[in-house]
Amino acid sequence: MTGKKHVVRAALTAAVLTAAAVGGVTSASAAQKPGGPTNRIVGGTVAHTADTPWAIQLSNSGSPDPTGEYCGSTLVAANKIVTAAHCTTEPASTYTAIQGRDVLSDTSTGKESKISNIWVDPQYGQQPGHDVAVLTLATPFDGVPTLPLETDKAADTTGAASVVYGWGDTEDTGPADTFQKVDVPVLGDDYCSDVYASEGYTADGEICAGYEDGGKDSCQGDSGGPLVLNGRLFGVVSWGVGCADAGNPGVYAEVATYAAELQQQIDS
Ligand code: ARG
Repeated sequence: MTGKKHVVRAALTAAVLTAAAVGGVTSASAAQKPGGPTNRIVGGTVAHTADTPWAIQLSNSGSPDPTGEYCGSTLVAANKIVTAAHCTTEPASTYTAIQGRDVLSDTSTGKESKISNIWVDPQYGQQPGHDVAVLTLATPFDGVPTLPLETDKAADTTGAASVVYGWGDTEDTGPADTFQKVDVPVLGDDYCSDVYASEGYTADGEICAGYEDGGKDSCQGDSGGPLVLNGRLFGVVSWGVGCADAGNPGVYAEVATYAAELQQQIDS
């Protein structure tokens, strides 16, 4: 039952992105939350990829954003990035990974690579969670520091001080298409199991992070990007209802749950 609901949610996300791409004007987040205030990586601060070189923009030529801004990802080996499964619905040839570019319109900065292979968790869409994928870079980012995976599920503890990064939409709370970060403490599986019962939150494979009162959150365009704890890739931006709204925190794929299968792809 929850699995079915989860599939519906994933399909809606894809439909929203498609609609935004066709319309060319309506942003994905505005389309997703009709009538309400549109909040984006909300309540964050400008960050610098020089400090987090493993934070990679996964741009797409079909994005409605002129910079191609599409999803986040994390460099986990010179030629591998981890992102969200729901970020990988387009043909591999339409993606470009961008390293070291804080402001996406500033194309004179950073390195780029095309994507030569996409691996998606085979259970994604069949079961709740599993919103993870590993992409292979055609041109490895040699010499760029990578982020290790969190492998201990005990890291998902209420109050843990995790931080999320991304270029997602900012609207009123910061500059557009500019790298940002925001502190999002772990709220705990019990909280999201309660507020997201009908959306199919799964404690085994997802992390609930943010604030009961809202105000700070990841948002559309941040998907696939890193949730970092103790210098490890702790979570992958996955979903939420709206952004930064009270009672609707961010949901992240739990890397420790999928670490073995991710590592197998990273090493292959
Ligand atoms: N699904 C969104 C994306 O594709 C990420 C949503 C995160 N939402 C949240 N409230 N934290 O970019």
